Parts: sequence; C-alpha cells; structure tokens
Amino acid sequence: MAKPDVGGAIRGALLTADPAAKVMAARRVARDWRLGRLAFAFEDAMPAQPARPGRPELLPPKEMPRRGKGGSDRGRIALWHALAHIEFVAIDLALDMAGRFGGEMGPAFVGDFLAIAADEAMHFAILNRHLVALGSHYGAHPAHDGLWQAAEATAHDVAARLAVVPMVLEARGLDVTPATIERARSQGDAAGVRILERILDDEIRHVAVGVKYLNAFAKREGLDPKNLWISLVRRHFPGGLKPPFNDSARSSAGLSLEACAALAS
Ligand SMILES: [Fe+2]
Ligand SMILES: [Fe+2]
Repeated sequence: MAKPDVGGAIRGALLTADPAAKVMAARRVARDWRLGRLAFAFEDAMPAQPARPGRPELLPPKEMPRRGKGGSDRGRIALWHALAHIEFVAIDLALDMAGRFGGEMGPAFVGDFLAIAADEAMHFAILNRHLVALGSHYGAHPAHDGLWQAAEATAHDVAARLAVVPMVLEARGLDVTPATIERARSQGDAAGVRILERILDDEIRHVAVGVKYLNAFAKREGLDPKNLWISLVRRHFPGGLKPPFNDSARSSAGLSLEACAALAS
C-alpha cells in the first residue's frame, strides 16, 4: 500500500482545533516522518488559517487586559497563559512552514520543521500542565490573535517566512525569556524556572534552523545572507526589532549581531 503523503498529514494537524488533539497530531506527524512512514508529497494546499479551539477567546492585541507588573496570582497566571498561547500558535507556525514550503525546500527541511513542531507541542503541553498546577488551564483567559499575521504576510515566500518567523519572532523569545526566568525564580517557582530554561535552550536551536535555511537560500541565489535578512525584515516586519538583545543567545543561534543592530527600532 502506498504511504500517506506528509503534506496531507501536516494539513490534518493544522486543521485540528482541540489543544490536546493538536499536540498529539503534531507529535505523531513528526514521528511518522522520522520513521519513514510518510511519502515526500504535497497534494493539498495548506489552510490559510489553522483551526482554533472555541477557547481562548481571541482579541486584538490592543484589547488584551493589561497584565500589570504583578506578583499577584492573577498576574502570574495571565503570564503563563500568554506563554502557553505563544507555544500553541508556534505548533502551527512550524507545521505550516513544513507543509507550505517543504515541497520546494526538500525532505531535510520538512524533517527539521516537523521536529520543531514536536518541540512546540511539548512546550505547550508543559506550560498547560503548569497552568493546571496553578489552578487554571489554557483557554481560561483571552489571548491575542496577532501571532498568525506574520504567517499570512509571508505565505508567498519562504525566504520572507524564514526571515520573520524564526529569525524575528522566535528570536524575540531569546531576549525576553531570561527576565521571565528571573521573575519565576524570585517567586520561588522552581518548576516554572525549569520549564523556561528548557524552552530557551530549544528556541536557540529553532532560530538556528531558520538561520541555516535562509543562509542556504541566499547562497543559492548568490546573495549576501546578512543583507538579505535585513531587507526582508524591513519589507515584511517594518516595526523593526526591539532591543535590548540577548547577544549571547542570538549569536549562539547564528544571528548576525551587526544585522540585529541595523534592524533595531
Ligand atoms: Fe517553543
Ligand atoms: Fe520555537
């Protein structure tokens, strides 16, 4: 019997709305690909929008309730909820990268981004478990709906997608996570510290995968990778990057600190 195609399996995971089911679907497609159970074929287009659960309610970023500085329980839970939402959307961003651009970029690219989708599924699951331990759960608070916009804006162009999603959005996580780790530590939240340290390590690798493929793309086109990144970010992410940067994490991921400085808003 012919193997099912990887594009269809990815599309199925993108169209899974229930959070626990999406976690399982993303991990399953990554595992099936790794074990050679799926064919390198993409018959169906990826959906413009992945399926979303009925909860959380999605609000425009400006309408999100303010989290405040808070050591309050409410403020703490709102923070973990926001992180869980970022990871939930990150599952779909990695799946969409593999499914939308895998055909042109090749099997290694598919494998790398499906492994990232499985990491994001794990990040979401451990954050949701932490929320449950704090007496809440994913879906209990509103979440902001801005995270898919970058995917839509770059749906036509793999170089633009790489430049913006791993190399700007995920790289932003490298800058802000150390302060969140310190906050969790000061609250005596040892489990939270461990979760965030693991996520930070994984995210350095995710950014590095983006850098690797954008550099390969630049080489193939005979372009300078640093200038290519700068021009793609200027065109597709006009707000620019927000310093201060985590220089050591950014350079471990292979980002050019000179280019980061040139893009600082
Ligand atoms: Fe993540
Ligand atoms: Fe990531």
